[in-house]
Amino acid sequence: MKFFIDTADVDAIRELHDLGMVDGVTTNPSLILKSGRNILEVTKEICSFVQGPVSAEVVALKADDMIAEGRKLAAIAPNIAVKVPLTWDGLKTCKVLSGEGFMVNVTLCFSANQALIAAKAGATFISPFIGRLDDINLDGLDLIGDIRTIYDNYDFKTQILAASIRSANHVKDCAMIGADVVTAPPAVIKALASHVLTDKGLDQFIADWAKTGQKIL
Ligand code: G3P
Repeated sequence: MKFFIDTADVDAIRELHDLGMVDGVTTNPSLILKSGRNILEVTKEICSFVQGPVSAEVVALKADDMIAEGRKLAAIAPNIAVKVPLTWDGLKTCKVLSGEGFMVNVTLCFSANQALIAAKAGATFISPFIGRLDDINLDGLDLIGDIRTIYDNYDFKTQILAASIRSANHVKDCAMIGADVVTAPPAVIKALASHVLTDKGLDQFIADWAKTGQKIL
């Protein structure tokens, strides 16, 4: 499973990148706002050290303008994945830009049919938003399973990029289903290493070691 980091906070990306935990990065207009930085500048900085796909999202709503924005974003670096919303204009943009050889991440996916039509439009990645489905008492993981089944039924090459990841359990469940990628906030990636019994066991080891009176160095 590939880990993409869902943030435009460069320091947070660098910390995980140094651990080998960054297979890519995703941003969106809300994350750019949160970063307080210019989209072109922060995306260029991320691409200066992240080799994997870096998603940068268009903000136009009409295909012609989306295509122009997408080409400008793609010009930042060879590993840019142009992010487009799952609208008819977004799908038109996906078809054109994927046809020009650019990676396209189709985002704001909330149904299996949306994922199906995005794959037919040539999407490199599909981004189903798990957390936001959970927020309205639907099961976001059911959607991941449905997309996995459909893509496998027809051998679609589009990668399932599970997004709106809110917990370590989301990551585990996506891995069990077979999502190709999860994109998660840095804190969720770090939470994968945490377990209360690990902490408790380590405390006991250290306490018992102190009683030996020994030193290793
Ligand atoms: O990549 C999409 C992600 O940033 C959305 O997350 O928690 O706002 O649903 P969230």
